[in-house]
Amino acid sequence: MDFINNYIETNKDRLLDELLDLLRIPSVSADPKYKADVARMAEAMAESLRKAGADNVEISPTAGHPIVTAEKIIDPAKPTVLCYGHYDVQPADPVDLWTSPPFEPVIKDGNIYARGSCDDKGQVYMHVKAFEAMMQNNALPCNVKFIIEGEEEVGSANLGTFIEANKEKLKCDVILISDTSIIANDVPSITVGLRGLTYMEVEVVGPNRDLHSGVYGGAVANPINTLCDMISSMIDKDGHITVEGFYDDVLTVSDEERKEMAKTPFDLAEFKKDLGVDEVKGEKGYSSLERTSIRPTLDVNGIWGGYTGEGSKTVLPSKAYAKISMRLVPDQESHKIADLFENHFKKIAPPYVKVKVTHHHGGEPVVVPMDFPALQASAKAMEKTFGKKPIPTREGGSIPIVALFEKVLGAKSILMGFGLNSDNIHSPNEKYGLFNYYKGIETLPWFFKYYTEMN
Ligand code: BES
Ligand code: MN
Ligand code: MN
Repeated sequence: MDFINNYIETNKDRLLDELLDLLRIPSVSADPKYKADVARMAEAMAESLRKAGADNVEISPTAGHPIVTAEKIIDPAKPTVLCYGHYDVQPADPVDLWTSPPFEPVIKDGNIYARGSCDDKGQVYMHVKAFEAMMQNNALPCNVKFIIEGEEEVGSANLGTFIEANKEKLKCDVILISDTSIIANDVPSITVGLRGLTYMEVEVVGPNRDLHSGVYGGAVANPINTLCDMISSMIDKDGHITVEGFYDDVLTVSDEERKEMAKTPFDLAEFKKDLGVDEVKGEKGYSSLERTSIRPTLDVNGIWGGYTGEGSKTVLPSKAYAKISMRLVPDQESHKIADLFENHFKKIAPPYVKVKVTHHHGGEPVVVPMDFPALQASAKAMEKTFGKKPIPTREGGSIPIVALFEKVLGAKSILMGFGLNSDNIHSPNEKYGLFNYYKGIETLPWFFKYYTEMN
């Protein structure tokens, strides 16, 4: 794979310009207004795979957004790597907090600023370009398949059905995903754990209509106040979640592994400074790194009700709502936690309100066993291009399809992402480093080589 640096150097501008074109398509999966753009993005993805040299490039419609698949089978006796990624992006709002328009990429200080630059278009495109480079140099060492979906940011609701129905087509030995982070550009790392997710919505109903807060206030429960009480009772003063049974399936991480984890470079002062907070907060007895990786959480993502418009309106609202999510760790199960939450929320509801609980999407946590052989190939690839051994890390985000891939296809995933936590994914001013983009294109072919050699 020694050609790769030269290939990148020779094609530098084109490799970037092509990505910038993809970043101009607002493929926001959550908002129906962008449905045509999401479809256009799937077309562009498919076209890029075709041009790179893939066969059987297909766009499969689903009940939601389309799934793009492709493959290059060079020899059925050789191993097969399935590359997964997502071409959909999070909504860009609040748009006024962006310093440049989210779908008009600009390069500033060595970074590409655009929605999806890091999560996940920039990282998916590294796979396409690494594949192109190997094709152009007659160096593809094994079979490759691609599955690139358009619904990851909304819970991958239709991907499960698709992989169930296409087991044979997606058959592979290992799955390769770049949709996670490294610790720093000079501290490479490989993700060996992801948290799961349970996402709920609650409705709290008080009086049968909005009331004048002077005429009725003080004599009837305010559902927003009540919802706030209920929420705050769900985490105690030590940062423990009070939902009964919530911790029952949480695996204890051994002291030895925690000691190993504590060696991961992490600067608390820098962390606080970056976020503009004077103090951190979380579960008692755990470090910040542990709180975002090996421990579960409960967070309100949004809360609303009553009057939130201009000026003021005196009202005692009839209803209050919240979206509440929980990040899960092994061996918690998404459905079980959703049921526990629902029972708990109904149980703590005072008699003066009625509550409704809805389940949104969820996903299971993941751990990649340290003795999984393909992990060695990815570590070797990173060491080759970064000049340093990567550190195994567990990350706090979720990629629900990873657990499903293992269940349905029987294949484990290598989570070799190149983003940084400071890339503002899901936030205004999302960025992706040019260094990271090119480093990904450089590193991935080495994974293919080392992985093929060990089989
Ligand atoms: N790429 C992220 C997940 C991620 C980010 C993992 C950083 C590790 C480090 C993914 O696109 C994402 O945002 N996932 C959602 C899952 C959800 C919408 C079901 C998440 O984690 O909130
Ligand atoms: Mn992602
Ligand atoms: Mn995301």
